[in-house]
Amino acid sequence: MATAVAPANIAFIKYWGMRDPEHILPYNSSISMNLDACLTTTTVLFDPALDTDEITLTWYQQVPHPATGRPRERVGAHLDRLRQLAGVDTRARVTSQNNFPADAGIASSAAGFAALTLATAAALNLDLDTTTLSRLARRSGSGSACRSIPDGFVEWYNGNDQKSIAVTIAPPEHWDLADIVAVVDMQPKKIGSAENHRLASTSPYFGTRLYEVQQRLDTVRQAIAQRDLTLLGTMIEADTISMHVVCMTQTPPSIYWDSGTLAVMHAIRAWRDEGLESYFTMDAGANVHVICAASDQHDVQQRLERLSAVQFTLVNRPGPGARLIPETS
Ligand code: DP6
Repeated sequence: MATAVAPANIAFIKYWGMRDPEHILPYNSSISMNLDACLTTTTVLFDPALDTDEITLTWYQQVPHPATGRPRERVGAHLDRLRQLAGVDTRARVTSQNNFPADAGIASSAAGFAALTLATAAALNLDLDTTTLSRLARRSGSGSACRSIPDGFVEWYNGNDQKSIAVTIAPPEHWDLADIVAVVDMQPKKIGSAENHRLASTSPYFGTRLYEVQQRLDTVRQAIAQRDLTLLGTMIEADTISMHVVCMTQTPPSIYWDSGTLAVMHAIRAWRDEGLESYFTMDAGANVHVICAASDQHDVQQRLERLSAVQFTLVNRPGPGARLIPETS
């Protein structure tokens, strides 16, 4: 038995579009920051008395429920992948809980599959390094889960199955940034990323996005190394707009933003004009991640909470990657 905790991550340069659905390989490298306060905790117990895997999920502010349908299949398939590696057939009892809203563009599946990968490997006594764990987390189907394995600021490399792994490019303490998630919609998203990853290449703008992303990756690496918020912010806003434009122009199109998303985007730009520096980025959902210097966090958070579109906020700093929790008893 083992318990692991893993963070959600926010992509500064997005993974959007899947080149190889079997191995979950992206078209482009991506860069993210792990979030220290949006966490999934997962316990995995292998029990020879079980005939089938028992998977119980506890979502934010909800009672525990057995996993069914697609989530159950994905967890079962990932357990099989690790069982095969360990050469065992024993079924498992999995319990997993989130301390933030699931399926709403806050990378709950990245946190979930990173925690599942580490807890399962440990429960099976597999002694795996961070690189191998990140490769396995990528294969879960939620590719960005690989970026929730290493610490801090992370790059996931485009490459073949061996080379497409995520590594730390700067530790969490390198830069005191804040990510304030402005929650404008708590409903689970209607269209999963997986489907849209497959449709991305149908957008006439997809090729342009891939071309631009190569330059943005270099600039974001440089912005992180030099702790240059203006440079980082300019890049992350350009990248999220480009990802969502691709999504809105694919066949059939799909729109994640709602009126609350736009209200927050406009407010952030207006505050910048007044001298308060923060930047927006949205993953596959309506909720807005607002990136600013930690010293401006209170000001930005207070302003966000005064917007009628914002239901509540979640404040994060750069955090560590997936880690094991020692058993207490
Ligand atoms: C927009 O397939 O990795 O968040 O949607 O959580 O299953 P889930 O994840 P994944 O797609 C992530 C898409 C993204 C951008 C990103 O995180 O890079």
